[in-house]
Amino acid sequence: MSETDFRRTLVTAALPYANGQIHLGHLAGAYLPADFYVRYLRLRGWPVLFICGTDEYGVPITLTAEKLGISPKELVDRNHQSIEDSFAGLGIEFDNFSQTSREVHRETAAAFFRDLHAHDRLVQKTTQQFYSPSQQRFLADRYIEGTCPKCQSEGARGDQCENCGSSLDPTELIDPHDALKGEPLELRETTHWYIPLGEWQERLEAFIASHPEWKENVKQYCRSWFNDGLGDRAVTRDIAWGVPVPLDDHEGKVLYVWFDAPVGYISATREWAIDQEDPEAWRVWWQDETTRLIHFIGKDNVVFHTLMFPAMLMAHSEPFVLPDNVPANEFLNLEGQKLSTSRGFAVWLPDYLERFEPDPLRYVIARGLPETRDMNFTWEGFQARNDNELGNNFGNLINRVFTFVHKYFDGLVPEWTEDQLEDIDHAVLAEVAELRERWASHMDRFEVKAAMECAFAAGQAGNRYFDESAPFRTRKTDMVRCGVSLAVALQVLRQVCLMLAPICPFGMTRLWSWLGMETPLFFGGWEEGLRDIEAGRPLGQPEILYPRLEPELIEAEVARLRELLEPGDG
Ligand code: MF3
Ligand code: ZN
Repeated sequence: MSETDFRRTLVTAALPYANGQIHLGHLAGAYLPADFYVRYLRLRGWPVLFICGTDEYGVPITLTAEKLGISPKELVDRNHQSIEDSFAGLGIEFDNFSQTSREVHRETAAAFFRDLHAHDRLVQKTTQQFYSPSQQRFLADRYIEGTCPKCQSEGARGDQCENCGSSLDPTELIDPHDALKGEPLELRETTHWYIPLGEWQERLEAFIASHPEWKENVKQYCRSWFNDGLGDRAVTRDIAWGVPVPLDDHEGKVLYVWFDAPVGYISATREWAIDQEDPEAWRVWWQDETTRLIHFIGKDNVVFHTLMFPAMLMAHSEPFVLPDNVPANEFLNLEGQKLSTSRGFAVWLPDYLERFEPDPLRYVIARGLPETRDMNFTWEGFQARNDNELGNNFGNLINRVFTFVHKYFDGLVPEWTEDQLEDIDHAVLAEVAELRERWASHMDRFEVKAAMECAFAAGQAGNRYFDESAPFRTRKTDMVRCGVSLAVALQVLRQVCLMLAPICPFGMTRLWSWLGMETPLFFGGWEEGLRDIEAGRPLGQPEILYPRLEPELIEAEVARLRELLEPGDG
């Protein structure tokens, strides 16, 4: 293990839009991988700060609010609360979960813009954009519709034609009109600020090149953008709901959401520092060059985290750390189909939590993470992994060992000494130690799926050891030997507990206490977990951690999804 592993790590998870609920796709893409990693660092006792919050500006939010007849602020406050609650229900524990509509963010984002502006890092350009005379406002590209100039299909959006996939500028559309109201639009001049990414391209290329260890998919995206050449990116917009542009003569203009949202990571860290009553404490996390900054995101956010935000950080007059890694994930599909939030074809976190425990979902997603290719989530697969892996592998090992220790050794760790260990004992301890080392180095490299293979194998090794050392036989012939093998099995169990802890924190926190451990698990429990087990330590009375799932529960979920795909004929 190298020295750098102990460095302070700032972990961010993409700020979710406060425009709806969290679904499985979000969880697999960003939030669970982030929480797995953060819990891994907390388990090791390494300094980490885990930052997130809701992304609350932009046009879609105002449209939803209008539809519901409430103010945008009311909408985002409501959604913020329910998103925060469902993350907590799944055991995703941020150090701060903020909102971009808060004052601390308005100030931070405005100051960031002012700094770039004052140092001539931004350029101003006047362009023609579509304006709705009836609503007296400019329309965002995606709310402009017309006929595609490339394939002639109607209903192409101002930013993209969904029929042929061409990316478009709204001025190219034939017969452009308001997508929602159908009304005609007119072109008007408007002036905006841009960040000239072209000027940063060389430095961005050098920055990406300095990270050969990043995931292939992420580097591949960057290479193709560099090949196309980076252009100017607008950082202001003509809409009402956002951080006002902090300059005179800019009424009605706000910061573009993709400018303000990443600064939200900084605001949320500042807010955390203020809550700690140490308002300057955010700086060490953002401005001390020894901090490692890790952004967890889904693949649709890559450009903003590898190019746009780093360019903004480079352009700022104060020194900021740049991301040390951006482990972006591919997408999650459901029952073999793409998720569709417009059709509601998704599994929503609040619904899941009403019907199931958090650990099985965390586990099943960890086993199938879309690290290098899309993941297919099926309810049948969910049940199979819960029953066969959590239940039959891990749960079974826990039950057998504890049952024996309670029945034959009064619930105390049996007596054992080093010289009583036999080959079979040394072999399983060495096997599990090796799996644990491999597990840790995979976790260090954000390879959770591979790490889980090690954890699973450790559970299997424990079960195999139990079968072969056969305490159920030796208890009749050699009580001392029986005790030694149970002590060895408990030592294995401790390490299985460590390896499963970041993934299944609810169950493993309980197992940790049944094992009689003293250090809080997610506060450096690793070290105590590796120590030799002390004979005589009292153990807790365990319960079934991972019961089998009733088939009817799973069938009901499958039926619910089928209903969404073929409404009416269910
Ligand atoms: N709200 C965006 C999304 O869900 C993510 C914003 S990430 C941030 O796709 F960096 F901008 F905060
Ligand atoms: Zn087209």
